Amino acid sequence: MTPRPDAQLNGRVAVVTGANTGIGRATATELARRGATVVLACRSEAKATPVITHIAGVTGNHRLSFLPLDLADLASVRAAAATLLESEEPVHLLVNNAGIAGQRGITADGFELAFGVNHLGHFLFTTLLLDRLVASAPVRVVNLSSVSHFDAKALDLDDVQHPTRSYVGLREYAVSKLCNVLFTQELASRYDPAVLSAFAVHPGQVASDVWRRIPAPVAAVYKRVARMKTNEEGSRSSVYAATAPDIEAESGSYYDQDCRRREVNPLATPELAAELWDRSAAWTAPA
Ligand SMILES: NC(=O)c1ccc[n+]([C@@H]2O[C@H](COP(=O)([O-])OP(=O)(O)OC[C@H]3O[C@@H](n4cnc5c(N)ncnc54)[C@H](OP(=O)(O)O)[C@@H]3O)[C@@H](O)[C@H]2O)c1
Repeated sequence: MTPRPDAQLNGRVAVVTGANTGIGRATATELARRGATVVLACRSEAKATPVITHIAGVTGNHRLSFLPLDLADLASVRAAAATLLESEEPVHLLVNNAGIAGQRGITADGFELAFGVNHLGHFLFTTLLLDRLVASAPVRVVNLSSVSHFDAKALDLDDVQHPTRSYVGLREYAVSKLCNVLFTQELASRYDPAVLSAFAVHPGQVASDVWRRIPAPVAAVYKRVARMKTNEEGSRSSVYAATAPDIEAESGSYYDQDCRRREVNPLATPELAAELWDRSAAWTAPA
């Protein structure tokens, strides 16, 4: 089986972060099935290579490649963006999918782990690619947020440069997912949606590898009891935001697991979105 010559995404180039497993893998597979050239931006070549072979096998699309990207290390993010820019290929779809939940730590650059990986690494990756994205217009940027962003009670940008403080890191996860919403809003406000549109999505509760830190038997029972979605089901809101026709006028929106446009946490004001952008730009500026 090969993508049909008239497949919707023939000639389009998509970059999906964290595409070696979970929702990102399912998203990369669906975009490949629809004919896109897909760059799998992942931190492990050993994990990504068999996934590329598998996606090529099930879709018949061999326009797939691996890009090394560790979002917990801004030097790696810069190197990944430089590799893409050197290739002079367009980028029509950027799906900022990678993420961690329930993990504790600090990034190579001294940021709380969830904030650093889920927000700041993606912020730098996206902003380094902006000129290429605009040159490839019309383009879409999809940021994987979460319904957990509603759990964030505040965003204190003076207090993100330390190791994770909460016991399982879920408080910091919620804040990082709020940042995904804020980044989406500010990105959307900066561009004509006919050129660049940006969306945040919640995939639903998905039985992905995100539960890897929970003991396997407990996770298996939890996934069944919670009736979690499959990765394929969980990829629908990402694929919708990346490909649905005529949604550019909704740029800046947040879609739920059923691809419905939803209000966001009231903390997500334009002022906070602008402040997050400015601070993130300063933190990631070249020394
Ligand atoms: N699953 C859910 O119920 C759920 C709910 C709401 C939102 N989400 C969001 O959906 C997105 C995808 O999550 P998932 O459930 O598919 O999780 P997953 O199966 O754990 O996949 C996460 C992906 O992110 C990658 N990643 C983690 N840290 C990274 C780093 N430092 N640099 C580069 N890549 C990194 C992982 O790579 P490795 O395999 O190398 O670790 C993996 O490819 C996340 O943003 C998550 O917050 C998930």
